[in-house]
Amino acid sequence: MPSVDITVRLNDQLLLQNPILTASGTFGYGDDVPDLVDVNRLGGLVTKSITLHPREGHSPPRIAETPSGMLNAIGLANIGVDRFCDEKLAFLASLDTTVIVSIAGSSFAEYQEVMEIIEARQPGIAGYEINVSCPNVKEGGMEFGVSAQMTEGLTRTLRALTDRYLIIKLSPNVTTIADIAIAAEVGGADAVSAINTVVGMGIDPLTGKYQLSTGMGGLSGPAIRPIALAAVFKIAQVVHIPIIGIGGIMNIEDVVMFLRAGAHAVQIGTANYRDPGIGVHIARDLPSYLEQLGIQQLSEVRGTAIP
Ligand SMILES: Cc1cc2nc3c(=O)[nH]c(=O)nc-3n(C[C@H](O)[C@H](O)[C@H](O)COP(=O)(O)O)c2cc1C
Repeated sequence: MPSVDITVRLNDQLLLQNPILTASGTFGYGDDVPDLVDVNRLGGLVTKSITLHPREGHSPPRIAETPSGMLNAIGLANIGVDRFCDEKLAFLASLDTTVIVSIAGSSFAEYQEVMEIIEARQPGIAGYEINVSCPNVKEGGMEFGVSAQMTEGLTRTLRALTDRYLIIKLSPNVTTIADIAIAAEVGGADAVSAINTVVGMGIDPLTGKYQLSTGMGGLSGPAIRPIALAAVFKIAQVVHIPIIGIGGIMNIEDVVMFLRAGAHAVQIGTANYRDPGIGVHIARDLPSYLEQLGIQQLSEVRGTAIP
């Protein structure tokens, strides 16, 4: 058995058993996974984003294939925070892995209220990931995550509500992602995760119809990996908090690429649709892969590509 230590210390309170988490929206609430997949072997699980009220999401078609990836316009379909607390929290708290609850909202007040409702249950969860790729209705629909000021303000507001681990999930659809990462750090985030989906669209050449009901949607999968990697690489050079890399990760090589670019851990999204066991398999095989590289401890590869 390889003796490589693949645990990841995120802060004083939080130690991941390995660096592989599932990405929000691609693994449900962790309770509808095939029996063959033991989620307790993951480094962690991030839930689907939760909003104050239940959401049906956008009308179909909500998913389209693209070369090397997929487009989605799920529209944050979720059961809402009350049902989430009643039906999912106990199960999530019973898991033997790190559970992060993703929160989305259309105003500061909505994010705040969702977090307050969950905190009031004193849930056995490790922390929150804040999906800032949502339109701020009060600011004319501009996404929270495109403004450093809004990102810092939202982070500060939520930081005041919880001592649990607080991750701000960054959008790639911005001019300078490093500036938004700094804003999250200044606002009190424990970590940033990057990236959410990249804006994309498809049109049927014969009928002229949009491939997604909304026209534009989010592109994910291997097509966005180089964008995500560059984002992590840039952020790693400007913040001191941990970074969780997300975007097109399909195998161990991709994971190690993100670690070398400066990520402490990674999340796997679209690849779960091909194989829901992918995260568990990567976590299982990572020690032998690192051993072959002559590495004893995961932290030895972190940031090695940064000049
Ligand atoms: C079908 C689908 C649903 C998603 N839902 C959410 C969501 O609810 N909240 C969120 O923060 N990100 C969501 N994402 C974005 C993913 O968590 C991830 O950031 C993105 O897909 C890039 O990673 P990947 O290329 O490994 O899929 C979703 C992605 C997909 C494909």
